[in-house]
Amino acid sequence: MKKLALIGLSVSLLFFAAYPSLRNTQLGSCVVYAFGSFREVAQERSERFLGKVFEDTARCRGGEESVKWRTTAWVDWQRYWATGAEESRSTGLISKLGFWSPNRRGVAGALLDMEYQRIELLRFNLFDNSGTFEEYVRGRNGTAGSAIKIWPQLRLPRGHSAYVDVGGDGPQRCQGELIRFRNLTGICNDITNPLMGSTDQPFARNVPFDATFPDLGKNEIVINRHGDRLGLLQPDPQVISRKLFSRAQAPNNNCHDAHGLAGYVPEANCDYQKAPVLNVLAAFWIQFMTHDWFSHLEEGHNQSELMAMGCSTPDVNNGQTPLSAKEVQQLRCRPEDRVDKSYIAADKPPVTFTHEGNQHLTRAHKTTLNKVTAWWDASQVYGYNDLSGKRVKRDPNDPAKLLLEPVITRAQEVIGYLPLLQPSDYTNPQWSGQESVAFPDNWNIGLSFFHNVFAREHNIFVDAFRQQAAAFPEDDSGLRNPANPTAVIRYKDVTPDELFEVARLVVAAEIAKIHTIEWTPQLLYNEPVYLAMNANWSGLVSKHPLVEKALEKVLARLAKSSSGNKAAAWYSVFATGPGIIGLGNNRPDVNGGVNHFGSPFNFPEEFVTVYRLHSMVPDLIEFRALRSDPNVIRYKIPVVETLRGKATQQVHRYGLADWALSMGRQRLGKLTLQNHPLFLQSLSMPRLKSVTGKIDVPALDIIRDRERGVPRYNEFRRQYGLKQLTSFDDFIDPTLSKNSPERVRQRQIAGLLREVYGQHKCEDSKIITTAQVNSDGAKITDCLGRPNGSMVDNIEDMDAVVGWLAEFARPHGFAISETQFQVFILNASRRLFSDRFFTSSFRPEFYTHFGFKWVNENGPDGVIKETGESNGHQIEVSPLKRVLQRTIPELKSELEPVVNGFDPWARDRGDYYSLQWRPRPGAESDVAFKN
Ligand code: HEM
Repeated sequence: MKKLALIGLSVSLLFFAAYPSLRNTQLGSCVVYAFGSFREVAQERSERFLGKVFEDTARCRGGEESVKWRTTAWVDWQRYWATGAEESRSTGLISKLGFWSPNRRGVAGALLDMEYQRIELLRFNLFDNSGTFEEYVRGRNGTAGSAIKIWPQLRLPRGHSAYVDVGGDGPQRCQGELIRFRNLTGICNDITNPLMGSTDQPFARNVPFDATFPDLGKNEIVINRHGDRLGLLQPDPQVISRKLFSRAQAPNNNCHDAHGLAGYVPEANCDYQKAPVLNVLAAFWIQFMTHDWFSHLEEGHNQSELMAMGCSTPDVNNGQTPLSAKEVQQLRCRPEDRVDKSYIAADKPPVTFTHEGNQHLTRAHKTTLNKVTAWWDASQVYGYNDLSGKRVKRDPNDPAKLLLEPVITRAQEVIGYLPLLQPSDYTNPQWSGQESVAFPDNWNIGLSFFHNVFAREHNIFVDAFRQQAAAFPEDDSGLRNPANPTAVIRYKDVTPDELFEVARLVVAAEIAKIHTIEWTPQLLYNEPVYLAMNANWSGLVSKHPLVEKALEKVLARLAKSSSGNKAAAWYSVFATGPGIIGLGNNRPDVNGGVNHFGSPFNFPEEFVTVYRLHSMVPDLIEFRALRSDPNVIRYKIPVVETLRGKATQQVHRYGLADWALSMGRQRLGKLTLQNHPLFLQSLSMPRLKSVTGKIDVPALDIIRDRERGVPRYNEFRRQYGLKQLTSFDDFIDPTLSKNSPERVRQRQIAGLLREVYGQHKCEDSKIITTAQVNSDGAKITDCLGRPNGSMVDNIEDMDAVVGWLAEFARPHGFAISETQFQVFILNASRRLFSDRFFTSSFRPEFYTHFGFKWVNENGPDGVIKETGESNGHQIEVSPLKRVLQRTIPELKSELEPVVNGFDPWARDRGDYYSLQWRPRPGAESDVAFKN
């Protein structure tokens, strides 16, 4: 590599000695870029590339627009060729020149930037809270910490029901029945680390422990950064909610505080800013996912002790005098709201250790537990502990199936619905009248929808499997029992219990696939992410088995390497070669394809933060009926009338098909400031028995993050390898013309941020971070580049959620901000890298031949292609569309033109990554396109 770089450098020097003026042209920049060596992966946290490339690189990948963008705080790749809509593509002859096409350079460059980010994130952002961190830093017996694969902390404790089975006091290794399927509590996914990812393991962190809990003021840097300005209720969370999160309503729109009009007549309207290319199904999908991955609550509650939620002090600039009654009335907040305090697992001062002269904490100042399994195992459907497991009702007539009962809906369906919870099934009276599912909290119409759909899918798989078994009873099902691995299990020998577990594996993998190649590319609607997500799942080179085999060998070597940093650095790059699914599935070691990068897998608290997506939910659902004209909105049903037991009633009343149609066509709420649902600011919480009986959920989002010590926004960005901001004005999108209404609005919001978080007179002697340095290498100080004594924005105090909602400048088609995306690059990949059932155990021995094919081909009928192209790609009928076609057959004609189940169903997808809101043929009369 070094030799190539030298030759490259010499050629470019000669080139530019002769033609200095060419240097600033695209051609010149591309020569420098092409012959320059690859950028080194940063050795130090403060040397990270921050998503910002060299000038030549930017010019070569995106022309002068891209060069100009380098002066902003935001990542560069969003201004490369072909990373946006049609107008971002270069046209003319050059764009046809394959390898030389600017469009190709742009997209490939964006992919490369993302991969560098991932490598750096794997290197600098893994902090395990379960006691393994000291070895991660020091290494163990000559093995680098990031190459350690087995941890004593993840052994099953004495007294665990499987303690003896995994080896008791000796070396622990899961075997036999424990490794066949996904276990209820998530143990034994990693065979040599039985506890990893199981229920009740500590949440990890993505930022160094000493950067957590800034309000505790535990070190000088933190004190320099925030002074004494932070507290659990400071700045006041309800004031933040009311000033920065509330949806503005046009006068007389009949919203009536999110209750709409009597009889749900469609004349009601609750204004909200709509995301252009995502539907309401996508909002509830992600809530459905988070219930699988993490929860801080146990049976829907926290500690019994209640605490105040703010609405007591005004913004910082006004000092700390209490809000007057008039101000409370104007803000419409509630000082008497109370909520239960978070569970905390450990809050004693953490033990410290010194390595190479630096002192480290062994864990964060406080820790909390993940009360569900961290695996992508559909535990919200199938359970994560004994109590939740009991809520999963199996069909007494066929124990391979989930219990579904007939319900007389208006749609007269033939497929059943989940049964209702019985009082003995739960500990939280708030859940009465809901369907019996493993994770019943915050139940609503969308969760009821997806739980019913996937319960149906489970049973449809079982039926299809039984048909296969009836047709080919003697054939090898592919399934094996590790107790006797060479014995063939024929289709007719698969027991109902085995079939239940196979169906669970299949449903969980289908869900992971939908999320990876359908939900995510629609959430981040552009070409680089489309390619990245498909590569994550099926591999960039999935059509080239030879290359795949070679890459797999490299991967196997990297996975074994004791030189952790190098292995970690390149593993993710190569992993996108063969794709995650099936990584290493032709090797004998069923555990050999996973990689935890030296840090046991669990989600970090910071990951929960970026999933606080409440502003996606509208206040009213535009209800349509399939059997009359789907283009007509018949009712506007308040979401608040579709919560908890009412969700179940509503689903039963109208049937899944009409709800699918309604949520499939309606756009969800934009993730931006001043766009939170009104109903969530006044959510009734009878279980708390407080004076108001209500909470403000957006305010609670802020409080919970503070309780769990999530760094504030600017330090959050620095720690994740993104450029810091220096003032609230940095949020204003630089591409907007000076007096455009949107720029005016953004300026007003910057002013509001200043009002809420305030300003202070800065002291340049105070160093406020070690995560990043200024471009000249100098330390970053309290003055953020301004002269000593200047008034600077308290941007360091801004809560993470507020910050990422304020990011107006985003890559094309991004419903989320680049800061959230950065967190996903790391953790969404790990969810796949770490899970045996998506890597080396994704094979027929566990899934059966029939199940393996079902996941790969999206169902039992083989791969089905869409007739047309989408964004220049020939594509398969999407996995969610196939699931919906099977589980709700009434949707057949409505789904026909749908390419991605999360794109509003009646939208015309138009040209290359168009965000336009136009009806597809046949939907011209749909009233949703009139505004
Ligand atoms: C009708 C819709 C919804 C309702 C009623 C609702 C309600 C709530 C409530 C009350 C909490 C606070 C729990 C606590 O900390 O005490 C919460 C937390 C949360 N919500 Fe929602 N929510 C809704 C939709 C969503 C959606 C669409 C998402 C998208 C991902 C979401 C993501 C989250 C997350 C990530 C948390 C934090 C969970 C944790 O700390 O473990 N919610 N929600």
